[in-house]
Amino acid sequence: MSKETFYITSPLYYVNDVPHIGSAYTTIACDAVARYKRLRGFDVCFLTGTDEHGQKIFKAANDKGMTPQAHCDFIASKFQELWKLLDIKYDKFSRTTSKNHEVIVQEFFNRVYKNGDIYEANYEGLYCEPCEDFKAAKDLLEGNICPVHKTKVQEYKEKNYFFALSKFQDRLSDYFDKNPDFIQPSYRKNEVLGWVKEGLKDFPISRQSVKWGIPLPVDTSQTIYVWFDALIGYLSPLLNDGDLVNLENAMKKYWPSSVHVIGKDILRFHAVYWPCMLMSAGYPLPEKVFGHGFLTKDGEKMGKSTGNIIDPYELINEFGTDAVRFYFLKEVAFGKDGDFSRETFINRINSDLANNLGNLLNRSLNLVNKNFNGEIENTNSDLLSLKIKVEETIKSYEKHIENLDLKDALDVVWQLVDATNKAFNDNAPWKMIKEGKVNEAKACLYETLEILRNISILVNPFIPSTSVKMYEQLGFDSFSLTSEWDCLGIGKKSQFFKVLEGKPIFPRVEDKMQKAV
Ligand code: MSP
Repeated sequence: MSKETFYITSPLYYVNDVPHIGSAYTTIACDAVARYKRLRGFDVCFLTGTDEHGQKIFKAANDKGMTPQAHCDFIASKFQELWKLLDIKYDKFSRTTSKNHEVIVQEFFNRVYKNGDIYEANYEGLYCEPCEDFKAAKDLLEGNICPVHKTKVQEYKEKNYFFALSKFQDRLSDYFDKNPDFIQPSYRKNEVLGWVKEGLKDFPISRQSVKWGIPLPVDTSQTIYVWFDALIGYLSPLLNDGDLVNLENAMKKYWPSSVHVIGKDILRFHAVYWPCMLMSAGYPLPEKVFGHGFLTKDGEKMGKSTGNIIDPYELINEFGTDAVRFYFLKEVAFGKDGDFSRETFINRINSDLANNLGNLLNRSLNLVNKNFNGEIENTNSDLLSLKIKVEETIKSYEKHIENLDLKDALDVVWQLVDATNKAFNDNAPWKMIKEGKVNEAKACLYETLEILRNISILVNPFIPSTSVKMYEQLGFDSFSLTSEWDCLGIGKKSQFFKVLEGKPIFPRVEDKMQKAV
């Protein structure tokens, strides 16, 4: 029987500059969800990639004295390099300058055109280049400043080809009514419903003055608007090598997508434009669009000009991949805005990873190695009375992660870590050993190791290499970890442990700093 598919996408990042923490954040979250779904046996396709057309990118290349394509190739490779450092396991990397993409975009355009939803007209308006978006005068600051980028908008006057978005007003409203979970979290949905209520307006989907783009099939003096082009980047890489390059083949296996994960600033493109484009072209709509919040640093908006930035490379270099992945997913409620400060970062790593989880593993392995030659059998699998807590943790973890409440999923795991630490300290197996209560000590250690084995599986989507380290120290071959979901629960895998030597999985951060000086 073929597996059920799960298709998740991150946005396609602009290549005007090297990746920043905002792009890393979305991609880490998508990776965690994709890894979880793989653990659950789904046939997962996780797509990320780069959005490479438009004036902003053309200018960035020009400023560096590079050809646009060489510039795009270079920055796209920077994204791929960062994803490798962050242990991001993507299945497809979409690049909007690929040849297949151009063919697919043109086919999509032709379908919409033939269906009568594209027309020619003059456009006069205001455009924000960093947003690559048209702006209504009422939304601007001081009459001409984009509220997002704080830069001047440009007056724009061209003959363009328009997409007849207004035609889809009723169909889109109807779709939202029938699919109440389409936009997540619910507070983002209200925002979208507000826009639709204001009335959908047709918008230009071609540019006369922009040369760095895909030519319009019906008028090669124009290029396709970068957003119309980029959204189709969720389809074009789904083609397999050797497939005839067409939309039908691209959509065969994974379309419609299960979820598009995006930042809240690009919600309108995904929750309004994209569904209407797909309706017009006659294709099914994505199942879900999830808009997450924005990250700030020390409570302030991040920005190159103010120097208030988090450099993902520096962070990984200093603290390691899993620490970075863990911080953003555990500290910030996925959907809400969140803050980064060095202090909270270090506290989170020390308390959750080094102390609560790392020490528990280390202490129990040391006791087993010192007193029982590394071997423990099950003598009473519920001496710590945590069997039910483990089962409840698995259930609520599953519920949270399915809703993309990633922080909540991690929170329930850490409640289990805390409860296990408490039960371990209260029962004090080292005392039991001294007092000759060998069977009780073994029961206590077996249950602790079992809980740690369960935890190593539950944290796998979030901190994959720590999960593997834990699992291996517990004496298992990491290869079997990915098929472990059915072995969740106490006593579900084996009645016996033969553990390895315990090595700290997370050194405390001050220790590291002291070592460096
Ligand atoms: N190219 C478009 C997306 C096209 S998808 C078909 C784009 N690119 S972007 O590089 O500007 O932004 C990519 C993502 O990064 C967006 O989801 C955006 O929300 C996210 N972030 C940018 N800055 C961010 C923070 N400070 N915090 C969290 N995410 C942020 O938009």
